[in-house]
Amino acid sequence: SKPSVLLTRNDYPEEGVKLLREHFQVDTWKSALGISKEELTSALNGKFGVFCSLSDKIDADVLKNASDLKVIATMSVGYDHLDLKEIKQRKIRVGYTPNVLTEATAELTMALLLATSRRILESHKAIHKGEWKSWAPNFMCGPALQGSTVGIVGCGRIGLSVLEKLIPFKVSKFLYTSRSKKPEVEKHGAIHTDIDALCRESDFIILTSALTPDTHQLINRIRLESMKSTAILINTSRGQLVDQDALIDVLRDGKLRGAGLDVMYPEPLPLDSPLLKLDNCVIIPHIGSAQIETRQEMARITAQNIINVFQNKPMIYEVPL
Ligand code: GLV
Ligand code: GLV
Repeated sequence: SKPSVLLTRNDYPEEGVKLLREHFQVDTWKSALGISKEELTSALNGKFGVFCSLSDKIDADVLKNASDLKVIATMSVGYDHLDLKEIKQRKIRVGYTPNVLTEATAELTMALLLATSRRILESHKAIHKGEWKSWAPNFMCGPALQGSTVGIVGCGRIGLSVLEKLIPFKVSKFLYTSRSKKPEVEKHGAIHTDIDALCRESDFIILTSALTPDTHQLINRIRLESMKSTAILINTSRGQLVDQDALIDVLRDGKLRGAGLDVMYPEPLPLDSPLLKLDNCVIIPHIGSAQIETRQEMARITAQNIINVFQNKPMIYEVPL
């Protein structure tokens, strides 16, 4: 009989699901709300592979019955939800989906930059609230990208794509942080700097780093308070890069002009979160890669990663362990 693969939700794009059916018995978790930790733990029993997403946390506990598991394929570029140390010990391979979502995520980052700086949602709400009384010289004014200093934290593929998209906007200076200097970033005149200087000097601070122990709470209270009161923070990476309570304080106290967040914690955000009460915070529900073809391609690659392990071939994108 064919080996079995678990899908952790019932709404993964058909492009991936139908590929898997050609090779495996496919067991699909019955809902589109995602599988619980307990259900996942028991469902991994006897599985060759699992097709999962960033909302499936896979740690030692979850893997305790997974003695047949050979591959975990996540339909995401981030893999901070996976306990790589435990996974490596069990000689399980890990696939993910970088590159294909770079442009979609960079576009979404641009959308947040413009929505926050030009106060799009606030303006839209103002009309609904009857606050548009007449054209007014100071109504809904915001800062320009032109002439500004933009700081890109963790300038990898996504950060570089954002930088390139910003060039026609006539930004005057780019700063970036990354473990090493990057020629492909510096060829655009960007300056490598440390995180403290980037936070102090930038008008727009864009977070694109992966979440690791080194980047966890990187944007702490001290760094948030060191930012210009006219600055805007954009996060399309992972919520845990930022001390969210401190972010709420600086946004509320006018120490930071605005924030655009595709990610936060927890996700989904509870409806009573103070973040939702701030007019200077644009919040969207983790949709960085939510572009139709991108999601189809992510599903296809995720499935192919599992198939390739079965066929003893290199994965399309494998996380080095
Ligand atoms: C999205 O956040 C991803 O990691 O793909
Ligand atoms: C993130 O991992 C990236 O592609 O920049």
